[in-house]
Amino acid sequence: MQIFHEIAPLRAFLRQIRSDGKDCGLVPTMGALHGGHVSLLNRSKNENSITVCSIYVNPTQFNNPGDLLNYPRTHEKDYELLEKVGCDVVFSPTDEVMYPDKPLIKFDFGPLDDIMEGYYRPGHFSGVALVVAKLLNIVQPDRAYFGQKDWQQATIISRLVEELQIPSEIRIVPTTREPDGLAMSSRNLRLKPSERPQATIFYEVLTYAKNAILKEKKPFPTVVEHAREMFSRDPRLRLEYLEMVDSKNLNPITNVEDAERPILCIAGYVGEVRLIDNMFLDLSSN
Ligand code: PAJ
Repeated sequence: MQIFHEIAPLRAFLRQIRSDGKDCGLVPTMGALHGGHVSLLNRSKNENSITVCSIYVNPTQFNNPGDLLNYPRTHEKDYELLEKVGCDVVFSPTDEVMYPDKPLIKFDFGPLDDIMEGYYRPGHFSGVALVVAKLLNIVQPDRAYFGQKDWQQATIISRLVEELQIPSEIRIVPTTREPDGLAMSSRNLRLKPSERPQATIFYEVLTYAKNAILKEKKPFPTVVEHAREMFSRDPRLRLEYLEMVDSKNLNPITNVEDAERPILCIAGYVGEVRLIDNMFLDLSSN
């Protein structure tokens, strides 16, 4: 496995790869790697001759300085895991490499950004789009892999690539969960042992809501009300939002029939840790 910290040697290496007729997949991450990242890496390995994983805790996407400071950093462990899963290339740049100057560019994704994560974390998606645009430009992958767990992010990145006509295909990989349903996330490392059992609330609420909407035909506002009650079982839990949206354009809907493929998105806190999750509203998938 080759590890690069600078752009020029990585580009030289990838030029050679391409001139040998090989294709390349990119898995952008912020490290503290877990099973969710591994599923993206495996998908890329299956579909490309070379897989590049980037590890970079991107400061421009953190609207909360404390969150940036506390974001888990486990580089040595990450490299070991990447070696084990057979990743070919790691790109792990410093802030000076990624942002030699204070960035001036801002992205505004309009209605894709006005709700949910974009509403509660203003500027977050501008930072995500900026770093992903940079990574796609640096690596120029044939395919780039993102997780369904961050559905709004995946939707915004798909739009970014489409609108800027970036010649990389975006592929979205289903969410990997712990056995008790908790979506894997680097932030789960920050949960105190006593908080960890409470973190299943997100999956419990999504499962309840999916059933209540599809099978019991309950109106969405009633479902949200019950979700709030479920969150009130422990003072460390706080529901930020539960939304039902059209998965294509993220338009909020109140009637499940109003979108071809509706998705439920949820965010909230367990203690100090903010977690998100989602579930498609069709009977065949989660
Ligand atoms: P990070 O949170 O490290 O996630 C990297 C990728 O892994 C994202 O595409 C995310 O959706 C995916 N992922 C996370 N948990 C997952 C799970 N349980 N199952 C499947 N996929 C999962 O998302 C980011 O980093 C950053 O915003 C980034 C895109 C790298 C830009 O900085």
